[in-house]
Amino acid sequence: MEEKKKGVDLGLRKFIKELGYMTGGAALLSTTPWLASCTPEKLAEIGNAKARVALIGTGSRGQYHIHNLRNIPHAELVALCDVYPANLEAAAALCPEAKCYTDYRRLLEDKSIDGVIIATPLHLHARITLDALAAGKHVFCEKAMARTLDDCKAVYEAYRNTDRALYFCMQRMYDEKYVKAVQLISSGLIGDVVGMRCHWFRNADWRREVPSPELERHINWRLYKEYSGGLMTELGSHQLEVCTWVAGKIPTRIAGFGDIVYWKDGREVYDSVNVTYQFADGRIISYESLISNKYNGMEEQILGHAGTVDLSKGVYYLEEDNLVSGMRQLLEQVKTGVFAAVPTAGPSWRPELRAKYVPHPVLEGKFSISDGESSVGFVADGSDVILSAFCQSCITGEKAKDVVEEAYCSTVLCLLGNQAMEEGRTLTFPEEYKIPYMKF
Ligand SMILES: NC(=O)c1ccc[n+]([C@@H]2O[C@H](COP(=O)([O-])OP(=O)(O)OC[C@H]3O[C@@H](n4cnc5c(N)ncnc54)[C@H](O)[C@@H]3O)[C@@H](O)[C@H]2O)c1
Repeated sequence: MEEKKKGVDLGLRKFIKELGYMTGGAALLSTTPWLASCTPEKLAEIGNAKARVALIGTGSRGQYHIHNLRNIPHAELVALCDVYPANLEAAAALCPEAKCYTDYRRLLEDKSIDGVIIATPLHLHARITLDALAAGKHVFCEKAMARTLDDCKAVYEAYRNTDRALYFCMQRMYDEKYVKAVQLISSGLIGDVVGMRCHWFRNADWRREVPSPELERHINWRLYKEYSGGLMTELGSHQLEVCTWVAGKIPTRIAGFGDIVYWKDGREVYDSVNVTYQFADGRIISYESLISNKYNGMEEQILGHAGTVDLSKGVYYLEEDNLVSGMRQLLEQVKTGVFAAVPTAGPSWRPELRAKYVPHPVLEGKFSISDGESSVGFVADGSDVILSAFCQSCITGEKAKDVVEEAYCSTVLCLLGNQAMEEGRTLTFPEEYKIPYMKF
């Protein structure tokens, strides 16, 4: 493998340090406790030690992780496993020194492997995670946590009973613009949070080319319910995690509609979903995803009475920037001819102008944002930082606080969203899937 660029990892650690950990940043610790071990000092403590890690599932996302592992100085990728030869060969070409397996259970028998990275389809996440923990491995599994509610519970229980580190790739939790924005929200920047509005729109069918028909379900697993939770687990899991992170609470009621509106090609999962989650205090998360129109792109809006933060864009808008006097508003209306375009109503009626909010970046300098189009990942979206944290845990044995709990909460909310849409009824958060971490 090529010489690793040590600067990449240190740059990220430096950012976390600057956010305040080393100067007693209590605010940051309370909003992102999982970053407590991600400081340059903690990294220095491991010296030249390297985590011996293996990758199970060498498809699109798995190969993206190989790319990120190359830049993590304390990681050594020693084994690869896949049941699909073409993907195993492609990964082996990227990492020729790694040993190749076609059965992950044989790989888990190798005592010299410290940790495994799981990037298989969703229905296998729980099984492989449980087997890997039982084999004494530290585990980094792709999101979402599991395909069913019972599997989520089983993984959570296994985690409570192990001393191994477990991560789920909820990379927003390690993305600097999210970390900073959540800190700003918690410090009162936008006043009381009164609601949340997230959406992810794409215009692509999600289909992959299949070399022969018997491979359809293996390659296009995302489209079938046996393997996938559709848009909710593939996209919604990231965005709903952000909502529970900001709220520090879990919604109590879930309702929604979903259907196959456009891509009627034999798939089973919805291509259009719209789910409403309501907290006990009345606040609402409005969640929407569609893959036949991308006009609205991807956004995660946290709505406060004094402003709005769009976490995915790393910008905030303040209501005070938009305070215009009645006269200015009237002049603006005359200028834009808005009166001519609307029917007259009673004397007190006044059309509301489209708000002219000023965008403020949450971070100084350049930072990366995703347009939401890629299905694999985005450079500097936090995926490399969380993977680096995992490799560090493989060496130190230290668990990352709250990562499993956050993944559990968002996955359960996704699966309940699917259930609410399929059953066409409003669900109350089920008692049996509550965990002590959850506040309602
Ligand atoms: N965190 C993110 O932003 C992000 C982005 C993309 C994908 N993902 C997740 O990554 C996972 C993989 O997605 P993908 O797009 O790479 O899928 P993929 O189909 O490209 O890759 C999955 C791989 O797993 C292999 N596999 C299937 N069964 C296996 C088994 N029993 N043992 C070993 N390997 C097996 C397949 O052959 C395939 O190579 C999914 O859970 C997906 O949700 C996460």
